[in-house]
Amino acid sequence: MSGTIVYEVRRARGDQEMAAALELRHDVFCIEQGVPENEELDGRDGEGIHLVAVSHGELIGTCRLLMVGGTAQFSRLAVRATARRQGIATALLSAADAETRAAGGHRLVLHAQTYAQELYEIAGYRPRGRVFREAGIEHIAMEKHL
Ligand SMILES: CC(C)(COP(=O)(O)OP(=O)(O)OC[C@H]1O[C@@H](n2cnc3c(N)ncnc32)[C@H](O)[C@@H]1OP(=O)(O)O)[C@@H](O)C(=O)NCCC(=O)NCCS
Repeated sequence: MSGTIVYEVRRARGDQEMAAALELRHDVFCIEQGVPENEELDGRDGEGIHLVAVSHGELIGTCRLLMVGGTAQFSRLAVRATARRQGIATALLSAADAETRAAGGHRLVLHAQTYAQELYEIAGYRPRGRVFREAGIEHIAMEKHL
């Protein structure tokens, strides 16, 4: 469903917005899902492209891309609980495609939580391999060729 929330999706701007993105990730992954903080913060944020969804000055979604050669590693996709099922994650995935193309990349890979597999399938990702556990949560590797 297309949302009633008015928002924009773009790269995070400045330290304050980056801090808000990390706070949202902490709320969603560590508090809501019980992921240990030292796994959520893996030391690679400094090399990543951070995309955000912002509505009326409030950060309501985020994700991260790490470019490794021609492949983008997509991760840390989180949407504020009150803003879900309105297409925000789908918009972030679409922006990630555009960023990957702009960086000369031709493929995106990610570890999907299995409950959210359909989200990625709708966005053009296909599973590759078997289900495994990561941070105590069931995942499956998926990829998309641009
Ligand atoms: C997963 C998450 C990012 C989805 O964000 P979102 O903005 O609600 O997703 P969208 O609105 O773009 O969803 C598009 C489609 O994906 C599927 N989908 C999204 N969330 C789903 C869910 N919880 N269960 C099943 N399917 C889901 C649906 O097909 C949905 O379309 P619909 O709403 O018309 O049924 C969000 O629920 C979240 O932050 N969850 C906690 C963190 C997390 O699990 N991150 C993903 C790690 S892989």
